[in-house]
Amino acid sequence: MKLSLRIVLIALPIVVSVCPVIYADDGYDLWLSYKKLGNSEILDEYKQSFSSIVIEGDSETVGIAREEVKNGLDGLLGIDVPIRNTLSQSAAVVIGTPAQSQIIRELNVSNELTTLGREGFLIRSVKAKRIPLIIIAANEDIGLLYGSFHLLRLIQNGQSLTDINIHSKPKIQYRLLNHWDNLDLSVERGYAGKSLWKWDELPGTIDPRYRDYARANASIGINGAAVNNVNANPIFLTAEYIAKLKVLADVFRPYGINLFVSIRFSSPLKPASNRNSRRSGIGSLETADPLDPDVRRWWKNKVKEVYQSIPDFGGFLVKANSEGMPGPQDYNRTHADGANMLAEALAPYGGIVMWRAFVYDADVDPDRAKRAYKEFVPLDEQFLSNVFVQSKNGPIDFQPREPIQSLFGAMPKTPLMLELQITQEYLGHSKHLVFLAPMWKECLDFDTYAKGQGSYVSRVINGSLYDYSMTGIAGVANTGSDHNWCGHLFAQANWYAFGRLAWDHDLSSEQIAEEWIRMTLSRNDDVVKTIKSMMTDSREACVNYMTPLGLHHIMQAGFHYGPQPDYAKSSRLDWTSVYYHRADHDGLGFNRSSSGSNATSQYFSPWRERFDSIETCPEEYLLWFHHVQWDHKMQSDRTLWEELCYRYSTGVDYVKEMRQTWDTLEKDIDPDIFLHVQEKLATQEKDAATWRDTCLGYFQKFSKMPIPEYN
Ligand code: GCU
Repeated sequence: MKLSLRIVLIALPIVVSVCPVIYADDGYDLWLSYKKLGNSEILDEYKQSFSSIVIEGDSETVGIAREEVKNGLDGLLGIDVPIRNTLSQSAAVVIGTPAQSQIIRELNVSNELTTLGREGFLIRSVKAKRIPLIIIAANEDIGLLYGSFHLLRLIQNGQSLTDINIHSKPKIQYRLLNHWDNLDLSVERGYAGKSLWKWDELPGTIDPRYRDYARANASIGINGAAVNNVNANPIFLTAEYIAKLKVLADVFRPYGINLFVSIRFSSPLKPASNRNSRRSGIGSLETADPLDPDVRRWWKNKVKEVYQSIPDFGGFLVKANSEGMPGPQDYNRTHADGANMLAEALAPYGGIVMWRAFVYDADVDPDRAKRAYKEFVPLDEQFLSNVFVQSKNGPIDFQPREPIQSLFGAMPKTPLMLELQITQEYLGHSKHLVFLAPMWKECLDFDTYAKGQGSYVSRVINGSLYDYSMTGIAGVANTGSDHNWCGHLFAQANWYAFGRLAWDHDLSSEQIAEEWIRMTLSRNDDVVKTIKSMMTDSREACVNYMTPLGLHHIMQAGFHYGPQPDYAKSSRLDWTSVYYHRADHDGLGFNRSSSGSNATSQYFSPWRERFDSIETCPEEYLLWFHHVQWDHKMQSDRTLWEELCYRYSTGVDYVKEMRQTWDTLEKDIDPDIFLHVQEKLATQEKDAATWRDTCLGYFQKFSKMPIPEYN
């Protein structure tokens, strides 16, 4: 936390007596600042419950839990809570596994713990010899750490602990951040400064921030990190870089985080004269053909070398035959051939492959939205059991709104890992306040109907629909070297939300927003309500001012920030805007119905039919699936053109309102944070208006209709 002159001033006794205590805050502490709770009944209750901390175990993980609970309680309660080895006569929090803690053993919770797995925990209020206790019990030390963070979260949220009885375990097994971080410290689609990983300083110097990063992840249950860009540099698998990776893995381990690496498929090849060439490798072979015995041996040896340094290495993330990256198809082999070769090398050590389905080869189908399905569905049944196919939520590319990627539900034999994007590549970078939990919930709660009603994407991902042998979810990280980690203070809420949903996809976005606000910004009920009202529909507003009614990919080429609906010239058709919006004098939208590209046929009934008909297609996807006449009557009774104008203008209005609302909070929010967000909102309002004016101005050339006023 930054210490500013202001703190020093308010620390003077004379000033303290008249001023409320306000801490200077630049967001470094994220949702873990543990500022003291205001005086209230609940504070008294907590003080009575926590007269000491009894925590048993001597692992590093238990040490971290001990320190966290101590700092958390001291900070939140404003007292010094002693750590003891044994119970005294007064109330305490007792933390331990049955293996290590006699108190927990005597409480007979072992049976209940059997259902909670390696990472789950139990929090309960009990009485032992008439002493009231709050216990955190788990099978493994990592469960104790997760339970400790959860207890602190409950306190930060002012929840009563009387009669508390929580059993919690993650619904998804692999919960990863994917960092698109490059060797030169740039971050692909990163908007919060440079990379967190200082490769030049490693392995010798360990930036304390690595630990803070791991702690933040552990606090929300994230248990894996792929540390480098999917457009991978093969150098990360050289001995020199394995030594650096080892240091990161050592820092992450006690926080329950496994390290993963993005690999380049061509790694076994000799280095090319141009090292940046995507066909360059770090080996000595002439081929990277996955069926070549030398290539297979190369990977086996490489994997062995990695595990010698990092015994709990997680595995490989792979972008292959996508956007110019090399892959098995370069040798006329399939994605399954490529993935299985790596999987075979990793299997003896328990490692996994996350093989990305982000492919869109124009030869497969003229409609980009159909390509991944067409390439991957025929390969179902062919992947080894430690391979995930990792797919983005939508069929194109992290747009503000997309229908679900039709692969979900269509690969019963292959564990699908869901890839979400936390960094706001297409949603205003770290300049716009856009709370993403509602977007992710929309995806997770979508009913694919793959096995009839109730076949939600969440059930595909958590493995219950098809009994997958492993389950996973990944979020493309929004972290960077900016002191507040994410660039925009409110972007922290998206990191937080990703972790919380990865642990429990049934949480509501409202609950997540509320938790985050209370833990980060304010515990005043009115303030919480006000900020929550800003966040709740911020994503819908972004859809409206950028790409309403199913429009997509009309952003500035490459940069993906502002609007560029007239972008028409590119070496690739599917990188232009006109390819996606298809505006003409008749109307607007991409006909993906059975009279067009027939992408609708990739969905299960009844979506197939619903999407296919202009009458039944949900309006939020209308222009995704249909080319719609400008004078088509919408549900609102407005014409398409009027509705488009209306949506753009509603989006801008929402941002205007967010700005006004934020301004009312000046006295309630830390001044530094208040100004930081105020500035960002001003930019967002200007940008939203630019989006509206540019897009409507452009589409008007086709509709030839006046722009109605909607405010
Ligand atoms: C998008 C993004 C790229 C990224 C790619 C991917 O196309 O713009 O920067 O590399 O997705 O997910 O691989």
